[in-house]
Amino acid sequence: MKAVRWTTGPKPDLECHDEPVPTPGPHDVLIRVHAASLNFRDQAILDGRYGARLQQNGVPLSDGAGEVIAVGSAVRRVKIGDRVTASCHPTWVGGVAMPEYQENSLGITSDGWLAQYILLNEVALVHIPSYMSYIEAASLPCAAVTAWTGLNLTAPLQPGQTVLVQGTGGVALFSLQIARMFGARVFAITSSDEKAEKLKGWGAEAVVNYRTFPDWEKHILDLTGGKGVDKVMDIAGEKTIVKSAAATRNGGSISVVGFTSGFGGGLPPMDILSRTLTVAGTAIGPRSDFDALMAAMAQHEVKPVIDQVFPFSSYRDAYRRLESGEHVGKIVINQFSEE
Ligand SMILES: NC(=O)c1ccc[n+]([C@@H]2O[C@H](COP(=O)([O-])OP(=O)(O)OC[C@H]3O[C@@H](n4cnc5c(N)ncnc54)[C@H](OP(=O)(O)O)[C@@H]3O)[C@@H](O)[C@H]2O)c1
Repeated sequence: MKAVRWTTGPKPDLECHDEPVPTPGPHDVLIRVHAASLNFRDQAILDGRYGARLQQNGVPLSDGAGEVIAVGSAVRRVKIGDRVTASCHPTWVGGVAMPEYQENSLGITSDGWLAQYILLNEVALVHIPSYMSYIEAASLPCAAVTAWTGLNLTAPLQPGQTVLVQGTGGVALFSLQIARMFGARVFAITSSDEKAEKLKGWGAEAVVNYRTFPDWEKHILDLTGGKGVDKVMDIAGEKTIVKSAAATRNGGSISVVGFTSGFGGGLPPMDILSRTLTVAGTAIGPRSDFDALMAAMAQHEVKPVIDQVFPFSSYRDAYRRLESGEHVGKIVINQFSEE
């Protein structure tokens, strides 16, 4: 099979290899990969900006989908021919984010999806509903599960509540779609008027261009009658966290999700205390959340927003698209086999 692997050295690069197809152990499942998707962190790893310990010569990409083609002798959860995707933390089935679950991370500490086949333990797998394509399913494991857990982290999202999402990347658009599915009202910020129109098309009630209006938090307050939103998905980190707090209502919550504008920020404790905010870190989520998300998406037949699809042979172009920051939604790779 063909598998793309990290090179060793101070700054990782990617290299395609020919290697044997792995054989399943008793609880393993061999999957023919049909699609894989990229996340912000995949470029951050290439740039040497991602702190997590990288497996030497590992296969990148935490997200993918494919068809079960062989199962170990003890496998009970799936059968040959099933269409599956998988949790990015393959041993985290339920409960809170314990370090032992987080240390096992596809595409970082164990082989990910940028290969023609992947071997996974059956506990990681999630069935793909019939309405959803492999390309769509491959877009979900990291960004959509993060959106689901982030929106429901401190308390389940309620119909009529207000949510602020940031940008037009994977986590932001899944947050928008999931919040709308819950009957919440969504406000958004983005870098361009063109992207703002797209966000409105997907159900955002109002969108503020944060380049034109750097004091966007004041606009969000105006849009909510001076009150602020119930929940913020803080995706940009350094440049947004203080403004996110200012745009949140008294007693509201902020899910700290990302760092697209940097790792710093410095939210003063008094901003949290004086307005009784809840600030909660989000760490993707367990398979039980992925199962719940998949069931909810199937009920509403929600279609993920796919930016562009690249064939496996052009995986470098997919990374270049991610690096450009011009994407809206998910970048996916397909055509893993040449048939
Ligand atoms: N904690 C977790 O478990 C978890 C899981 C998944 C992802 N993440 C993190 O979440 C972040 C987003 O990931 P992703 O995969 O969705 O990224 P992505 O698809 O690459 O999207 C990133 C988007 O961030 C927006 N952005 C950049 N600077 C911004 C700013 N100053 N204010 C508002 N928006 C800004 C841009 O959208 P516009 O051009 O529209 O502004 C950009 O397209 C990353 O930092 C990622 O590492 C964390």
